[in-house]
Amino acid sequence: MNLGYRLAYRLGFTPWENAGRSVFGDQLGQLFDAAPAPTDATAAKALDLGCGTGDHAIELAIRGWSVTAVDTVPLAIERARAKLPIANADVTFVLGDVTNLPAYVDSGYALALDVGCFHGLGEAQRRVYGNGLTAVTESGAQLLMFSFSPGHRGPLPRGASRSDVERALGKWTVVGDDAMDTTAAPVILAKTEPRFFRLVRD
Ligand SMILES: C[S@@+](CC[C@H](N)C(=O)[O-])C[C@H]1O[C@@H](n2cnc3c(N)ncnc32)[C@H](O)[C@@H]1O
Repeated sequence: MNLGYRLAYRLGFTPWENAGRSVFGDQLGQLFDAAPAPTDATAAKALDLGCGTGDHAIELAIRGWSVTAVDTVPLAIERARAKLPIANADVTFVLGDVTNLPAYVDSGYALALDVGCFHGLGEAQRRVYGNGLTAVTESGAQLLMFSFSPGHRGPLPRGASRSDVERALGKWTVVGDDAMDTTAAPVILAKTEPRFFRLVRD
């Protein structure tokens, strides 16, 4: 149901939307650089999981990926779609649930991105997320993930460790695990000890 996120978008309290280059520095861009869109257009399908208002999905589209982006909050999807003409980009924004991906998207994705969605899910949700993601991606696909480290911080997402990620994504191997450089990040974000994971599917 995701009432917390629905309320956040309704109230305009969405601090993650400011977490572009100014907060991530070049780290997210470097991850994108390490996963360039294949020149074979049929293989160049990317999926943004919990896309919010779509900035990262749009960035991937500009980088040559054919992007489908999923979020469960109607207002976020509406705002994401409204950005497309301004960005002069093409992304398929889907109102859907990342814990039931095959019901919402097609298959054959070579890249998946998750900036701050998985780390807020419960254990059972993470497992079905993993199964669904494996079902809609192709062998050798990459998953780029931004996640808080686990911890209790009031209303903030619970976070996910490397082993949490590995447990939910049994058919995937972690090939990158880097602490975020929080030099330019707000203190509240730095305290979550965020990490970037890169995984490859069997
Ligand atoms: C912290 S926000 C990040 C949004 C976006 N990735 C960004 O970086 O701007 C997490 C997003 O995940 C979405 N989300 C949470 N649970 C979801 C679910 N089960 N299915 C789809 N989206 C979900 C929320 O609605 C929210 O937009």
